[in-house]
Formats: sequence, C-alpha cells, structure tokens
Amino acid sequence: MIAVGLTACGGGEAGSDVAQIEIRPVGDEMRFEQTEFTVKPGQQVRLVFVNTATSPAMQHNVVILTDPNAVDRVGTAAMEAGEANEYVPTDEAILAHTSLAAPGETVEVTFTAPSEPGDYKYICTFPGHYVMMQGTMRVAA
Ligand code: CU
Repeated sequence: MIAVGLTACGGGEAGSDVAQIEIRPVGDEMRFEQTEFTVKPGQQVRLVFVNTATSPAMQHNVVILTDPNAVDRVGTAAMEAGEANEYVPTDEAILAHTSLAAPGETVEVTFTAPSEPGDYKYICTFPGHYVMMQGTMRVAA
C-alpha cells in the first residue's frame, strides 16, 4: 500500500502540462503569422486562433493534419464540404480543427499532440487559402 502511494506521487504535475499556442493571420493576407510551433509527443495542446483581419473575405480556421501528403486532398475537399460544414471535410488525416473565425473573432481547439515525433502541417481550409496559408507543428521530445 505504501509503495503504491509513493509511486503515484511522481506523476503529480501532469495536469499542468498544456501547451498554449496562439496563432494570428498576417493582416488581410492569406498567411499565418506563426508558421511554426513545437509541442511534446502526446502533450495536450490548447490552440487559440485570433482573427485580426478586417477584410470580410478573410475568414480563417486552423486544421491540423497527421499526414503532410494530405494537404492538397483536404484543401480541395474543403470546397466541396462547403459553408454548412465550415469548409472542413471529413478526412482521416484531420487531427483537430477550429471552427471558422470571421474577422475580429477568436476560436480555439484543444487536442492531444501525436505520440510520434515529427513535423505536422496545419492549414486554413477556407476556399482558396490553403495553398498559401500553412504552418508546421513540430512534435519533439
Ligand atoms: Cu484562411
């Protein structure tokens, strides 16, 4: 009994280990200001997207992908998914995504980082944006 109690004490700080990530667009451009961030394998990630754009056409989201080769597929499928789905298609490569943020809006999503270290892509799937609007989530111990 005593031995079990002592062992459990070792993991006491796990709850505070959440990566806080904030991403903004570059003005009214189809670009993320933060094109790279690093988290630990399996870490909880709270990603906040602040849409600081002012042009009505600059609606954005952040869609995180498990497969770097899925960028074109997801970006293209997003147009067919349409406004009703906030331009997020159903695709196995989508790890997490925010809702669509109009200019002036802030959205967020909390997810668990992949356990596999490596570089993961995130894109904005609003029609026409994903080719320019990309970033890299680096998962490293
Ligand atoms: Cu966008």
